[in-house]
Amino acid sequence: MLYPLLRPLLFTLDPETAHDVAFAALDAAVASGAAQLAAPRVAASPVAAMGLEFPNRVGLAAGLDKNAAHIDGLATLGFGFIECGTVTPRPQPGSPKPRLFRLPEAQALINRMGFNNDGVERFLANVARSRFATKRRGILGLNIGRNFDTPNERAVDDYLACLSAVYCDASYVTVNISSPNTSGLRELQDAAALKPLLAALKAEQAKLAQQHGKYTPLVVKIAPDLSQPDIGRLARTLVEQRVDGVIATNTTTDRGAVATLPHGGETGGLSGAPLRDKATDAVRALAQAIDGAMPIIGVGGILSGEDAREKIAAGATLVQIYTGLIYRGPQLVVEIAEALARR
Ligand SMILES: Cc1cc2nc3c(=O)[nH]c(=O)nc-3n(C[C@H](O)[C@H](O)[C@H](O)COP(=O)(O)O)c2cc1C
Repeated sequence: MLYPLLRPLLFTLDPETAHDVAFAALDAAVASGAAQLAAPRVAASPVAAMGLEFPNRVGLAAGLDKNAAHIDGLATLGFGFIECGTVTPRPQPGSPKPRLFRLPEAQALINRMGFNNDGVERFLANVARSRFATKRRGILGLNIGRNFDTPNERAVDDYLACLSAVYCDASYVTVNISSPNTSGLRELQDAAALKPLLAALKAEQAKLAQQHGKYTPLVVKIAPDLSQPDIGRLARTLVEQRVDGVIATNTTTDRGAVATLPHGGETGGLSGAPLRDKATDAVRALAQAIDGAMPIIGVGGILSGEDAREKIAAGATLVQIYTGLIYRGPQLVVEIAEALARR
């Protein structure tokens, strides 16, 4: 409710500073107990997927809380699930700044963050400190990637190391092979690379499930910049390898809609309103190709309850938001949860 007043102030700051200020305010509100008191009452509309029960269909997309350092604050905003990361085995600084740009005319962002993160060890220490995760009060997705200097031929080692590290703390684990900001990462979506990667991860998942007596679903996050035949091939691999879920989509490298706007030519991934239809098309194509074999989490350009309904109508079971939260504030979480509960 305060966000319409705060947003103009936050937007005077550079985007990364605004991100840090907003999280500092949220963390302070949690420490004082104010965030818990002000937490919205989101109508319960539970949905079962991947063997988990989601309190509502709206999740936080990966990338806002890369180090899992703000879980308790995020948990007060009404999300049905929260995804943290992308985390890599070793800490890395990410791309040089500036690397995050607002395009307010288009309700969009362009980022080339490059998996800036403190590494999996610090990530897990943060998760352990969070009440949300330790009390298992909510669904926590942990999103894993490879370090920028690990070649694709050895990417599997990074994903395996992260999977076994985060396995016990995660409600589900997302395998991110679709960020445009780590050179070569998206090539892991090609069947030749994807099959052995997923086979190794599924074998490790089976081992870990046995070892810990807990099955943690494995979800793959894909790019919006795939052709229909590419999506068909990818979907076949996901089904063959018995992946538990799929997130569509990450950011786009397409600049069609924003090329002439200030910052429209920046390198990186475009998110927000201009991504909406492309992401919805990917959800629809995937839904046809996987034919109910696994749930789809629809993400990309959701800035209203109606946008979220479109993702569900296209075949998604759950949705996630990132850029919408920056433009619309936490009120959007409640708005979407209610719109989808009314369906
Ligand atoms: C600044 C920024 C950083 C992101 N970092 C990640 C990331 O680390 N891992 C990931 O899987 N997706 C990342 N994403 C992609 C989002 O999770 C989401 O898939 C994408 O932004 C589309 O949704 P939106 O239009 O609601 O933002 C990032 C997005 C933004 C804007």
